[in-house]
Amino acid sequence: MKELVCKTSNTHQYPILIEKGIKDRIASMKTLFAPYHKVVIITDKNVAKKYLADMERQVRAAGPKVYSIVIPAGEESKCMGQVSDIYDELVKCNVTRKDAILTLGGGVVGDLGGFCAATYLRGIDFIQVPTSLLAQVDSSVGGKVGIDLDAGKNLVGAFHQPEAVIIDPLFLDTLDDHYLMDGMGEVIKYGCIKSQGLFVKLMSYAYHEDLLDDMEEIVAKCCAIKKDVVEADEHEQGLRRILNFGHTVGHVVETFYKYKKYSHGQGVAIGMAQITKKTEAEGITQVGTYDQIIALLENYGLPTKLPKMPLEKVQEILFTDKKFENNALHICALEKVGRAQIVKIQKDQAIELFR
Ligand SMILES: NC(=O)c1ccc[n+]([C@@H]2O[C@H](COP(=O)([O-])OP(=O)(O)OC[C@H]3O[C@@H](n4cnc5c(N)ncnc54)[C@H](O)[C@@H]3O)[C@@H](O)[C@H]2O)c1
Repeated sequence: MKELVCKTSNTHQYPILIEKGIKDRIASMKTLFAPYHKVVIITDKNVAKKYLADMERQVRAAGPKVYSIVIPAGEESKCMGQVSDIYDELVKCNVTRKDAILTLGGGVVGDLGGFCAATYLRGIDFIQVPTSLLAQVDSSVGGKVGIDLDAGKNLVGAFHQPEAVIIDPLFLDTLDDHYLMDGMGEVIKYGCIKSQGLFVKLMSYAYHEDLLDDMEEIVAKCCAIKKDVVEADEHEQGLRRILNFGHTVGHVVETFYKYKKYSHGQGVAIGMAQITKKTEAEGITQVGTYDQIIALLENYGLPTKLPKMPLEKVQEILFTDKKFENNALHICALEKVGRAQIVKIQKDQAIELFR
């Protein structure tokens, strides 16, 4: 088992436990569950079908009473209406500050359930059990929780760190290939920004099975990078921005196509390629980096070409982006594979990223 400890303040730290088969050992985690009278498992319909009954049994055997809330699968559930329904259920179950939420699912369940935990009774504990690759390597660590508004994604949220993150790479055996490759977009990002070793390793897999065999190690490497960055900058004032490599452009692409044509990982892949093309041309990035990134993304079937979008529309989407500060945008650019820096771009120059 790989065990990391994420220390976000002098008073809060939590374990990130990563091991194949750990989902079947949750019953033995009596110390983790000892503080709670009840645990409410929040999950979605797809994950519930495969894993909820087992998880209920495991948590109950660890000590607390167990209740479950099953939401429809998909991004549409990350909304205010769903939050309100969950609050109602928490009231019905008489959940108090001595109780906890356990999120069992992908990034949607983690963000939504975490947001409910951050806000219900001004904050109750929660435990993340991520089941998609994207959630295992990214969204479950770091405490960003939130929901979408009609006006845009993740516009309402909080920083609320979990009490533990329990990651079983065996969950990925039932994850659709499309979502697996989507998560690979984020995995590749970690290689780009912080680990040439990971980048090179990812280049070496010819078969899916080999990749899945090594998943414990890959997920642990990504979580270790994320944990280090989050510990240094929990509230995204500086260093944490490197985790957004490719995201500014990716977010515009996702939004322009109304989240239907490109998934998050695909958007990030396009963004990483496009930014690197630009920064390499400007001499910020070592020559050849763009070609290396394209080759790796293509290896995992991820898109690399910026689709044609009218620039007025791009500008409109970009300018409603919450990441503009004092008329400037901070984007992550690579010096070379494995080393990132933050570059400041003035608002009137930002559109150049899309040409
Ligand atoms: N909080 C953060 O730091 C952060 C970071 C990145 C992304 N996100 C958010 O994460 C969300 C996307 O996460 P996602 O890609 O996991 O999407 P998701 O939660 O919608 O999961 C994708 C699909 O896979 C299914 N699924 C999940 N695990 C499964 C399993 N083991 N077996 C079978 N099916 C399974 C789900 O039911 C869903 O249909 C977005 O809302 C995004 O904004 C948050």
